[in-house]
Amino acid sequence: MKFFIDTANLAQIKEAHELGLLDGVTTNPSLMAKEGIKAEKAIMQHYKTICEMVDGDISAEVLGTGFDEIVEEGKKLAAIHENIVVKVPMIRDGVKAIKWFTDNGIRTNCTLIFSAGQAILAAKAGATYISPFLGRIDDSGWNGVQLIEQIADIYERQGFASEILAASIRNPNHIIQCAEAGANVCTCPLDSILGLLKHPLTDIGLAKFLDDAKKMG
Ligand code: G3P
Repeated sequence: MKFFIDTANLAQIKEAHELGLLDGVTTNPSLMAKEGIKAEKAIMQHYKTICEMVDGDISAEVLGTGFDEIVEEGKKLAAIHENIVVKVPMIRDGVKAIKWFTDNGIRTNCTLIFSAGQAILAAKAGATYISPFLGRIDDSGWNGVQLIEQIADIYERQGFASEILAASIRNPNHIIQCAEAGANVCTCPLDSILGLLKHPLTDIGLAKFLDDAKKMG
């Protein structure tokens, strides 16, 4: 399973990258706004900076909702860097645009996936990645991991090539569950990635080893 970081914060991207495990980055308009990046020129420059920091797929989201706007925006985003993947919402014109991008050699990430039916449509359109929003499904009282399992099963049976990019991760356990459920990629906040490191018995064990080593000397 590939590890992406889900942020537009450059310090967090740098920290995850320095760990040596980062395979890519996803952003969305809310994450960009959180960093105070709103003007089109600033957004394009920010994506370019991220591409220069991380050698992996970088999802850049369109803001348009009509077919023509999505295609025009997507072409501009894809021209920033070869690692840009155009992130397109799961709406009727989004699906149509994903098919257009597929036919024209532009890679896509279909975002805001909340059902297996949506995952089938995105795969049929040729999306490179599809992003089910695990945490938001859990927040609504449904089961996000079950959706990942269902999509993984359908894609396997049908031979769909889209990669399942589990998004809206809330905690380290979600990452483990995504790995078990067959997600190809997990895009996580930095805290959730670092949370995987932690176990109290590791800390207790290390403290004892170091203490014993001091006694030996
Ligand atoms: O980038 C899409 C997704 O990961 C958003 O997560 O935490 O806003 O539900 P969240």
